[in-house]
Amino acid sequence: MKLAVVGGGSTYTPELVDGFARMRDTLPIEELVLVDPSADRLELVGGLARRIFAKQGHPGKIVTTADVDAGVTGADAVLLQLRVGGQAAREQDETWPLECGCVGQETTGAGGLAKALRTVPVVLDIAERVRRTNPDAWIIDFTNPVGIVTRALLQAGHKAVGLCNVAIGFQRKFAALLDVVPSEIHLDHVGLNHLTWETAVRLGGPEGENVLPRLLAEHGDTVAGDLRMPRELIDRLGVVPSYYLRYYYGHDEVVRELRTKPSRAAEVAEMEKRLLEMYGDPQLDEKPELLAERGGAFYSEAAVDLAASLLSGAGSPYQVVNTYNNGTLPFLPDDAVIEVQAAVDTNGATALPVGQLDPLYAGLTAHVTAYEDLALKAALRGGRERVFKALLSHPLVGQYEYADKLTGRLIAHNREHLAWA
Ligand code: G6P
Ligand code: MN
Repeated sequence: MKLAVVGGGSTYTPELVDGFARMRDTLPIEELVLVDPSADRLELVGGLARRIFAKQGHPGKIVTTADVDAGVTGADAVLLQLRVGGQAAREQDETWPLECGCVGQETTGAGGLAKALRTVPVVLDIAERVRRTNPDAWIIDFTNPVGIVTRALLQAGHKAVGLCNVAIGFQRKFAALLDVVPSEIHLDHVGLNHLTWETAVRLGGPEGENVLPRLLAEHGDTVAGDLRMPRELIDRLGVVPSYYLRYYYGHDEVVRELRTKPSRAAEVAEMEKRLLEMYGDPQLDEKPELLAERGGAFYSEAAVDLAASLLSGAGSPYQVVNTYNNGTLPFLPDDAVIEVQAAVDTNGATALPVGQLDPLYAGLTAHVTAYEDLALKAALRGGRERVFKALLSHPLVGQYEYADKLTGRLIAHNREHLAWA
């Protein structure tokens, strides 16, 4: 089995490689190709990746290349984890929206739109190359904004599934709080990527007992504390929102906070410098502790599980992924991409039925789906007016004065990445 990781020079890659090494029985990889435009990063990350495999006795070969076509040729699955413009572009996304009093975040709001506009054309180009060489290969997309990027891939007819670590993070957290193994926890997870709610926490599987009320009664403070939301809010909702909902439910509070501290991009850039230094140490043969401070915890496990199910059926039967709605949430178009539990096997992902969604969540989900639709149109076809409409449709922008100003800033800061600007 051959796997290619595009964006393989990411500082996150050792996390992924560690997962491949630990879970090699579920996902037996013979060849892992790390594809990245940066030769320096490939050398550092590739070197550590080989040492991780060697230490754990993994027989797989690790290859590095800057050539996408060569890298993906013959791959059974291609993981996309690239970041167009790097942390520098992210820093911009997190900064200029604040000038209009709007949240500055890498995937949410105006910054997320900028990321989508930079990213969708690049990802579609890579996916085309994958399809040309291996029409049967699966594309697993981690590249943010995952909902919009996955929708772009599916719309273009690619064999793609979108993945995020928010659900597996909750699964691990709740399992620890309830003192059960993670595989015992089945989440009723519903919404869009980075806009989800855990409406039930079940033991054993999709039909299992819902222990969410007990979880909140016993551990509500811990759950709320992790999300940085008031305990009282979680109790009133009776469901657990993802931490991305804080950008909505606590928008103004977050804006005030973001204005007083360095951006997350600056923090991450600093961490990446230290990580790359560590990766260059020939004695290091495991993923460093520091990596746990990044937001992507457990993403390797989610990736291995998903790849194993798609390639051989060996992963968990149900997984939270991003895929076509196809009637699952009846108030959304069939071709919207939603993030829910799905049955996953070698035929792909099929969303499991979801009970009726409370209007409190359905309303915001529909609103952001409409934004994602307009955002994708702007990403595919470009044009100032399409950017403006996507921003006007976003619940965190909404007013024409802001949408107009943010359109100008978005284009000015991203001109080099936008073919049409
Ligand atoms: C979470 C999200 C990812 C996001 C990451 C950011 O893991 O699910 O989509 O990329 O956080 O983490 P960072 O350490 O870069 O801020
Ligand atoms: Mn994510």
